[in-house]
Amino acid sequence: MKFVVKDYLLEKIEYVFEKLGFDKNDAGVSYSGRPEVCDFQCNSAFGLAKKLGKNPMELANQIAEELKKDLLNEFDISVLPPAFINFKMTDKMLSKIANMAIDNQKNLIKMPEKALKIVFDYGGANVAKELHVGHLRSPIIGEALCRLNRLMGNNVISDVHLGDWGLQMGLTIAQLEDDGYIDGYFGKGKNKEITLDTLNEEYPKASARKKTDEAFHKKAEDYTLKVQRKVEPYYSIYQDIRELSVKRIAANYETLGCHFDLWYGESTADPYIDRAIQIFKDKNIARISDGALVVDVAVEGENIPIEKKTDDEPQRYKNPMPPAILKKHNDADGYATTDIATILMRNEIDKPDRIVYVVDFRQMMHFTQVFRASKLAGISPAGQELVHVSYGTMNGKDGKAFKTRSGETIKLEDIINLITSKAEEKLAANGIVGNKELALQIGVGAMKYGDLSNIASKDYVFDIDRFSSFEGKTGPYIQYTAARINSLLEKAGMKGGDIVIDSPETRNIIINLIKLLDSYYVAYQENSLNALCLAVYNLASSFSLFYNNIRILTEQDENKKKSYLSLCALVKDAITLALDTLGIETPTRM
Ligand code: ARG
Repeated sequence: MKFVVKDYLLEKIEYVFEKLGFDKNDAGVSYSGRPEVCDFQCNSAFGLAKKLGKNPMELANQIAEELKKDLLNEFDISVLPPAFINFKMTDKMLSKIANMAIDNQKNLIKMPEKALKIVFDYGGANVAKELHVGHLRSPIIGEALCRLNRLMGNNVISDVHLGDWGLQMGLTIAQLEDDGYIDGYFGKGKNKEITLDTLNEEYPKASARKKTDEAFHKKAEDYTLKVQRKVEPYYSIYQDIRELSVKRIAANYETLGCHFDLWYGESTADPYIDRAIQIFKDKNIARISDGALVVDVAVEGENIPIEKKTDDEPQRYKNPMPPAILKKHNDADGYATTDIATILMRNEIDKPDRIVYVVDFRQMMHFTQVFRASKLAGISPAGQELVHVSYGTMNGKDGKAFKTRSGETIKLEDIINLITSKAEEKLAANGIVGNKELALQIGVGAMKYGDLSNIASKDYVFDIDRFSSFEGKTGPYIQYTAARINSLLEKAGMKGGDIVIDSPETRNIIINLIKLLDSYYVAYQENSLNALCLAVYNLASSFSLFYNNIRILTEQDENKKKSYLSLCALVKDAITLALDTLGIETPTRM
């Protein structure tokens, strides 16, 4: 049976409002701003008093008296001037909730009313390009959102949507050609072996060259078009590069604990491109501009204000939304083309209620264009939600995008190694040496928690020392709490019993558990995991307080001891579920 305390209380308050002849829509309840005084508070008497021209304190008392009749065993209710109605859960109520949670804590998690089918588009690594630190946030946030949505009962499809149809392909092939790697494909001798290292050298070289060498740029565009039109041998070269690159990408995502249902790429939508374009033409919403086929997506009055540096600077505006490019000047497919065709494909195959893109905020304009174009063409049906979950930059301590000391961007693998060796150091200090797997669990956990504990849309500072600390608001601290409980339970060697809440420490745990279980729904609605991160930390630290103040294993009263052991197991389960939702492992010892 579902039981969400806050909703339960709200229902009761609404009921009393109706009974007293008030509008139940004026009723509200929230967690208390002063947890030392009470657990929940209702401030509705203020607004109601104003509306009805009555005395707020009198109204509050009237509502409280009525509520007391019904909630005597569950809440201590008091009224504080000027008109706060305060609710403190009774020990009996807390015990009841704790024992319900032992059976199944998911019973206490609020779920959406209707399950949705949702495609999550995240990861988005680019074929032939090295994964670097800029590719870290999408898999971390995307994976956690998928897990959260599955927990919420939604039908989730995750798609890595590799970047494999763009100019980088033509650039890489052109450079490989110049450097004599692919003669064999053209029947002009032998191919030289292409490894990942080759790609990591050739693409950056080509990318830099394109800026100064116009002929080379043109050639790369032409090769990209040839790949897209499946002209040989360009297409075979492309496929070989893709295969090599995808293996490495998959290994990286595996290390990060990301699992994709679909290993599609931009290229997967190729069979849908012609049809998508035809829809725009049939609806007469495409036009030619500088040789390209575009669709206008600006809306009136959209000039975007540019942020002022000083107050007396005149207000300036950015351009309205530029048109989306459906076909490039040379008839090649662009980034918007494949994204629009992918929406068509998803709607023919999966028909999702919602598509969520977890992508850097810098692509906001791209997604606005793609979403508007798809809606205009009816490729995305009216009721379908297209959502860009945009995240900010991961910065170094200097506040600028995270770089190596010499100013280069850092490879994803290097950053994982960096944080894993930090975890190894910390483990060594605890006497655990040579456990690579554990170090990886902790390192990745540190990195993920450090990321997810921020509001997703904001920038954050990657502080390796803080993130990997076993103390404070960190992944390792929470993992450590669970590991500590684990060894305590092993040592106890006996089963727990009914939980009885009878002390500030135990009450604190259950209140924090309730808040944690409530935070799942908040995180779900916000498409950001920060509320969940904070709540699981609060639960872990309320456990530490309990652990420090109360003797568990040496408790003489058998029932008390069993209650404590169940409480410990409950906290461990709650931490495990929360970490699992964040995509973080819960080691059994550390
Ligand atoms: N490959 C893209 C990039 O590196 C990210 C892909 C995001 N997803 C999408 N459907 N466009 O910028």
